[in-house]
Formats: sequence, C-alpha cells, structure tokens
Amino acid sequence: MLITFEGIDGSGKSTQIEHLGRALKSASLPVSIFREPGGTPVSEKIRELLLHSATEIDPVTEILLFSAARSQLVAGRIMNLLKQGEIVLLDRFYDSTTAYQGFGRNSLQLNDIRHLNRIAAHNIVPDLTFYLRIGYEEAELRLGERVKDRMEGSGKEFYLKTILGFDEISEREERIVVLDATRPADEIHRAVVEKVREFGISV
Ligand code: ADP
Ligand code: TYD
Repeated sequence: MLITFEGIDGSGKSTQIEHLGRALKSASLPVSIFREPGGTPVSEKIRELLLHSATEIDPVTEILLFSAARSQLVAGRIMNLLKQGEIVLLDRFYDSTTAYQGFGRNSLQLNDIRHLNRIAAHNIVPDLTFYLRIGYEEAELRLGERVKDRMEGSGKEFYLKTILGFDEISEREERIVVLDATRPADEIHRAVVEKVREFGISV
C-alpha cells in the first residue's frame, strides 16, 4: 500500500509520517519511509541540485529533475517494496509537482504535467494521500529562522499559488484526505490512523 503526505513546507508532513511509521512498526507491520526528492543515491544527488544549487534552474529543467528523481525512486525501490506487500510512506509525491511546478511556477500546462507525472511514477497511483492544509503565514511561523532552501526562497506569491494548487487537486482526487494542519499533532495523528484502518490495516 502506498500512502503519500502532501502540503507546503512546514505543514507537518515529516511529523505525521514519523508518528504513523512508529505506530505501524509497533503493530509489527512492514513499513518503508522515503522523502521526495530523494531515497536513492541518484535521487539524493538530484535533490542536492534542486534545493541547494546556487545557479538558476530553468522551470522546465526543474520539473524534469523532480520527475527524474521520482522515476529512479519508484523504479529502484518503491515498485519492489509494494510487490512484497510493504506499506510505503512517502513525504511528497507527484501532487507536489502539480502544485509547485504546475500552479506555483506555471512551468508546463497541467495536462502535460499529468502525463509527465504518470511517466515518472511508472503508472503507480497512491492508495491514500493526506493533504495537510495550512496557510502560508502559519507555516512560515513554524519554520522560524531556519535557512531557506532554493524552493523555500521562492516567495509568498509562489506559495499562495501552490496552496491553491493543492486545494484544487484535493477537490478532484478521491484518494486525497484533507486534514486541518493547524490542529495539534496528536489529533491529526488520530485522524490519520482512523483513515488507514479503513484500508484493513490493523494499526
Ligand atoms: P514538513 O515536513 O511538512 O516541512 P514538519 O513536520 O517538519 O513539516 O513540521 C514543521 C515544524 O512544525 C516543526 O517544528 C514541527 O515540530 C512543527 N509541527 C508539526 N506539526 C505541528 C502541529 N500539528 N502543530 C504545531 N506545530 C507542528
Ligand atoms: P523538503 O525539505 O523535502 O520539504 P519540506 O520542507 O516540506 O520537508 O524539500 C522539498 C522541496 O521541494 C519543497 O520545497 C517542495 C519541493 N518540491 C517541488 O517543488 N516539486 C516536487 O515534485 C517535489 C517532490 C518537491
């Protein structure tokens, strides 16, 4: 089963993944956790380029790099794990590409992005996606004085369009569960667990 977590930076994805991962492990369920971009040596190198490159990256180059990192992770790790019956938790997947590169950056037309996402994901579709919904200012406050990476330095306008993107995608896709990310982390965790149980997972 593939479960993805989406939302802007600082929405609490890592926190929820950590909690759910721990709960699944203590129920002796096989679980693997990855973050995007990353999770394989090639994908981690691409991550470094995307997030910490000092030089300009063209918007189309950017979307292709995120997609390349994803393709490597899916082909190299995720497909096998899913075949073995593992529960895979992913910190971001292609909904981030649609929201950030599609809505935030207007890199390509949405139809082309949909097509590219399918290719990069080798046709894998998440069984369940949690969208942790939070406003720009509140997420900024949470991240505090942390040094911003290349994407995080893209400005308020960009983030507002990205949030709008996540909102629109979640209205279209039934697999996406929208959670109010401003609630306390343990409350959100309980909602996550409740939903996961609906898939017959005894967590
Ligand atoms: P993301 O992975 O989406 O960037 P994190 O899980 O790293 O987000 O959380 C960003 C910051 O917000 C961290 O300092 C974390 O402790 C805090 N945080 C996470 N969830 C909540 C919550 N529900 N309420 C308040 N603060 C939270
Ligand atoms: P990361 O540190 O993993 O995110 P977070 O701060 O939420 O923990 O950084 C990944 C960054 O890359 C984040 O700003 C979102 C962005 N991103 C895209 O723009 N497109 C994508 O397809 C993906 C997977 C991430």
